[in-house]
Amino acid sequence: MAPSMTTITLITIYTFSLLVSITSCAASTVEETSRPFKKIYAFGDSFTDTGNTKNAEGPSGFGHVSNSPYGTTFFNHSTNRYSDGRLVIDFVTESLNLPYLPPYLHLKKGNDTFGVNFAVAGSTAINHAFFVMNNLSLDITPQSIQTQMLWFNRYLQKQGCVESKCNDFDETLFWFGEIGVNDYAYRLGSTISNDTIRKLAISSVSGALQTLLQKGAKYIVVEGFPPTGCLTLAMYLASEDDRDEIGCVKSANDESNAHNLLLQSKIQEFRKQYPHAVIVYADYWEAYRTVMKNPAKYGFKDLFTVCCGSGEPPYNFSVFATCGTPNATVCTSPSHYINWDGVHLTEAMYKVVSNMFLQGNFTQPPFNFLLETKERHG
Ligand SMILES: *[C@@H]1O[C@H](CO)[C@@H](O)[C@H](O)[C@H]1NC(C)=O
Ligand SMILES: *[C@@H]1O[C@H](CO)[C@@H](O)[C@H](O)[C@H]1NC(C)=O
Ligand SMILES: *[C@@H]1O[C@H](CO)[C@@H](O)[C@H](O)[C@H]1NC(C)=O
Ligand SMILES: *[C@@H]1O[C@H](CO)[C@@H](O)[C@H](O)[C@H]1NC(C)=O
Ligand SMILES: *[C@@H]1O[C@H](CO)[C@@H](O)[C@H](O)[C@H]1NC(C)=O
Ligand SMILES: *[C@@H]1O[C@H](CO)[C@@H](O)[C@H](O)[C@H]1NC(C)=O
Ligand SMILES: *[C@@H]1O[C@H](CO)[C@@H](O)[C@H](O)[C@H]1NC(C)=O
Repeated sequence: MAPSMTTITLITIYTFSLLVSITSCAASTVEETSRPFKKIYAFGDSFTDTGNTKNAEGPSGFGHVSNSPYGTTFFNHSTNRYSDGRLVIDFVTESLNLPYLPPYLHLKKGNDTFGVNFAVAGSTAINHAFFVMNNLSLDITPQSIQTQMLWFNRYLQKQGCVESKCNDFDETLFWFGEIGVNDYAYRLGSTISNDTIRKLAISSVSGALQTLLQKGAKYIVVEGFPPTGCLTLAMYLASEDDRDEIGCVKSANDESNAHNLLLQSKIQEFRKQYPHAVIVYADYWEAYRTVMKNPAKYGFKDLFTVCCGSGEPPYNFSVFATCGTPNATVCTSPSHYINWDGVHLTEAMYKVVSNMFLQGNFTQPPFNFLLETKERHG
């Protein structure tokens, strides 16, 4: 496929935007009424956005809200999430007995009592100016993690805690959703190397994490990349001989893996630098791959075919008629599918992944360790 076509395709699409046995430490699952955290602040891209894209290029922008296939499983079609239902962050808030996070750009009075979501679909890790400078911008998604930090600072300023440390940070969970997948996508068709993207993206993410830690964040979860080569769009675009041992796009998965390794080494540095903070790495890569290797165990029948879209098997996906456009159809059992619209995952998959993060061993240190530490400190 011609590079220019690939780039445009990706930009258009990306702008939308186990229970593993707990081996030894089954200690603290959250009691039904307890609230370990007062608040959650979340950051990220379309995998974590609960509505900041609203009124922009958001999913319910496709056609009438009540007819939108987005939110068909949960939220009664009225969602600004890129899925048929809940995202990982929604399952996280549920498990901590908190309400779903309101999007920063559409806060209503009193809505921020239990936290705010700054994640926005299409967001990059690297500053937007970089993409503009390299002619890789269609100006659809000017937001980056820097934008989200700017919003966060503005928000804190209104709360009166910018100069001084914010007291309730001791009671706050910071959820740093996967971010940077878009950066790699936007570069396709250009001469910018994956090394450049990786270095800049990790530097940008590190800067944001450092800012949070300096402000006194004590409990942080940082998601790594999923194996992006397993996303339908990647399968659809890549050549058929570009495959790894689990049948996904090798080149894309190699890039994601390299990104995750660098991210983890940065996190390790932060753990030394900020020993009083608990920084958990959520291993999206390993979680997703575990599902891919044994899909039936998790109720999945389709690894790559999209639930919502149009086009021919094997993917039933076409870049010319994606989910939400008139020719696209929705499958009858979304929970049998991993992929929802070519890029984003189904609620069923997000649920499995969140269980793996919250109860399984796909977080390092285990999420339970974070909860126990929080409990000890009151
Ligand atoms: C999680 O635990 C299972 C056994 O319960 C083990 O097979 C698997 O390798 C572990 N995964 C990680 C990422 O540690
Ligand atoms: C969806 O609508 C039904 C019936 O009106 C209601 O009971 C349910 O709570 C709604 N669900 C959500 C997530 O809004
Ligand atoms: C936000 O406000 C709306 C309208 O006032 C309300 O329906 C919703 O439950 C609130 N959400 C949160 C998380 O407080
Ligand atoms: C971007 O496009 C402009 C105008 O076409 C051109 O002058 C400039 O050299 C390009 N920059 C890069 C980095 O390709
Ligand atoms: C980066 O791109 C180069 C050239 O396409 C490729 O050879 C290399 O394997 C890639 N690196 C990673 C980590 O994917
Ligand atoms: C793919 O689409 C065809 C119709 O074009 C449909 O018969 C088939 O069930 C779809 N496959 C999946 C796995 O949804
Ligand atoms: C949608 O379907 C109609 C009727 O089959 C066809 O004429 C049209 O080209 C399709 N549009 C796209 C974007 O595929």
